[in-house]
Amino acid sequence: MSFVSVRNVWQKYGDRSILERVNVSVDEGEFISIVGASGCGKSTFLRMLLAEETPSKGEISIDGGIPAVEPGIERGVVFQRYSVFPHMTVRGNLLAAEAFGTPLGRLPRNARKAAQDRAQATLDRIGLTHVAEQYPASLSGGMQQRLAIGQALMATPRVLLLDEPFGALDPGTRLQMHDFLMELRDETGMTVFMVTHDLHEGFKLGDRVLVFDKPRWDPVDPNVIGATITYDFDARNQGVPFQDILEKYPMLAAG
Ligand SMILES: Nc1ncnc2c1ncn2[C@@H]1O[C@H](COP(=O)(O)OP(=O)(O)O)[C@@H](O)[C@H]1O
Ligand SMILES: [Mg+2]
Repeated sequence: MSFVSVRNVWQKYGDRSILERVNVSVDEGEFISIVGASGCGKSTFLRMLLAEETPSKGEISIDGGIPAVEPGIERGVVFQRYSVFPHMTVRGNLLAAEAFGTPLGRLPRNARKAAQDRAQATLDRIGLTHVAEQYPASLSGGMQQRLAIGQALMATPRVLLLDEPFGALDPGTRLQMHDFLMELRDETGMTVFMVTHDLHEGFKLGDRVLVFDKPRWDPVDPNVIGATITYDFDARNQGVPFQDILEKYPMLAAG
């Protein structure tokens, strides 16, 4: 069985279908890019993987278990907007993510020491040791987003969920973040789901690119039909030039 398995998943809010018939199997370590028009249910899909929502119908399993009842399968999540705490230092932000709300002073001494060691290792990994005692406001956008990724890494997740993580960054910083993310992924072997607006980014980073779209339209009520995965591109094969894909599927460029 595949590591992440999504079988015939539907999500409805009231009588509005957001997603329907979503099926996808993902191997451990794959990098999955997700693209699609705004409002088509990409974030909803991530929330279901995160077990923040349960599907109206169908099944999701990660490593053979159902996400909501398997807290052992650690997932980290990073959003476009900086999710870091402004009133805490860089190091404090990592420790807060580790302690899940328990003040560090109240952790048993060995747990406190382990958290501090892990925070230091994460600081080194995200390259922020030199600013560890500074506050987020003094950091560049790229550094703040590396800190947000660092928070997600504190739980040593096997699945990393990224929701338009680089959308607010300037193009140069975004390229640096791409290198950072690829290194991180090679080192950790994490399975990654990344929603992006940038199709080029999706193909560059992803092993696969999933396109979410409505498979058809109901002329009477557009809310009846939800989006599904309409394409599942193999992006590893560099023999398929990105431009050819755009020519073949011009709707992707429009999205
Ligand atoms: N909890 C909710 N209750 C009702 N509608 C929601 C809820 N969450 C999202 N939606 C709606 O579902 C649709 C899909 O949202 P979302 O998954 O955020 O899309 P995307 O991330 O692709 O832009 C949107 O129309 C949004 O307004
Ligand atoms: Mg979204």
